Amino acid sequence: MPQKFYIETLGCQMNVLDSELAASALNMMGMQQSNVPDDADVILFNTCSVRQHAEDKVYSALGRLKTWKTEKPFGILGVLGCMAQKDQKLVFQRAPHVDFVLGPGCLDVLAETISRLLAEKIRPSKTVCVSLNRTANAHPDVLDSFRQYNPERIVPAESDIPASLVRIMFGCNQFCSYCIVPFVRGPEQSRPPQDIINEVRHLAGQGTAKITLIGQTVNSYQYQEGERSVRLSDLLYRLSGITGIEQIDFVTMYPTGGRGKQHSPTGGGGQQHGPLGIDEDLLQAVRDLPNVLKHLHIPAQSGSDAVLKRMNRQYTAAFYRELVDRIYATIPGSTITSDFIVGFCGETDADFEQTVDLVKHCRFRNSFIFKYSERAGTKAAELYADDVPDEVKKFRHNRLLATQIEISRTNP
Ligand code: SAH
Ligand code: SF4
Ligand code: F3S
Repeated sequence: MPQKFYIETLGCQMNVLDSELAASALNMMGMQQSNVPDDADVILFNTCSVRQHAEDKVYSALGRLKTWKTEKPFGILGVLGCMAQKDQKLVFQRAPHVDFVLGPGCLDVLAETISRLLAEKIRPSKTVCVSLNRTANAHPDVLDSFRQYNPERIVPAESDIPASLVRIMFGCNQFCSYCIVPFVRGPEQSRPPQDIINEVRHLAGQGTAKITLIGQTVNSYQYQEGERSVRLSDLLYRLSGITGIEQIDFVTMYPTGGRGKQHSPTGGGGQQHGPLGIDEDLLQAVRDLPNVLKHLHIPAQSGSDAVLKRMNRQYTAAFYRELVDRIYATIPGSTITSDFIVGFCGETDADFEQTVDLVKHCRFRNSFIFKYSERAGTKAAELYADDVPDEVKKFRHNRLLATQIEISRTNP
């Protein structure tokens, strides 16, 4: 009987893809995926740290697995993903029956870690494999410790995922003041274009017709090929010609360019609205390539300049509005979606009203709205008080959602 594993995924598409790659690696070592935790020999949680709620969900699910572990002392319980990188050994304090913790920059050693633990004749030993702390170490060492993992994968025949996810970049260098992602996913790294092309060809060969290119800020994709700098627009032209690929989209975008960004959250430094913003080349590629979806996801986060500034978002509300106007003018029939955080530190009623106005102006197809959740270790947690009461956050959440629903209803 092959041994079985169960994997539960929280968080964004980065984690969805990592879980797919993890499952593929475990299948290749002869294990079988199970849809239920009870009969599994290995249970994995691929976790998210973006908001407190996402972490609470994991810790309570881990708590419920105490009985499973008591009944199956040789069973292996592993925590992967962003919370593994963030909490590290703390996971064992809060859930002592967890056997191993493995961050997103160490996914390449997942299969060997599991086979080693499975082979142990006594109860599995505790293991931690994480990348280096980004603020406490030299940049090249940190970069090395967030290892890129792009194995060939088998697309399951019964896959109900509408499109194959293809990572074009790892990490993030933006350091929005509220956000944990740059710490848990590490420095921005763009994959070589030829690797991406080969992967898409391989997926197309297995029947994939739709691909979604993923990264935290895909418009800052940049890879130096000799003299030439390959950008997202170039990548789209190259990928759109691959036989069998009928649809391409990409998430998510940052409203301005990513060039000239700091590799550290501390210190000021040369922010510029660089050439890697959402530029004409990119908009024209989206407009002209028939298999690229005429849809862009561009998180705005807030419509107030004061709030955007405290968020360390490198643009103003006026800049964002103009960008949206330019997109609608350049790409006929295009749609845009956005993300917003309500109740960020110091957000006043007047600030919030500016967000409502921005949503009305931009006529998004949809908006994903989140209540601010303080994350230890971020600049916002260090510098600003989480001073908007929860009732106010809830009220603003509902109000912005109602505004968006009304727009979506009248905006087919
Ligand atoms: N790189 C992506 C975002 C990844 S996180 C991007 O910039 O588009 C997805 C969304 O979660 C963000 O856009 C933001 O709206 C929200 N988010 C991030 N940190 C948060 C926090 N501390 N509290 C509440 N929402 C947060
Ligand atoms: Fe977080 Fe900002 Fe990076 Fe998005 S761009 S992952 S919100 S730091
Ligand atoms: Fe969550 Fe990590 Fe994605 S923190 S949103 S799973 S990059």
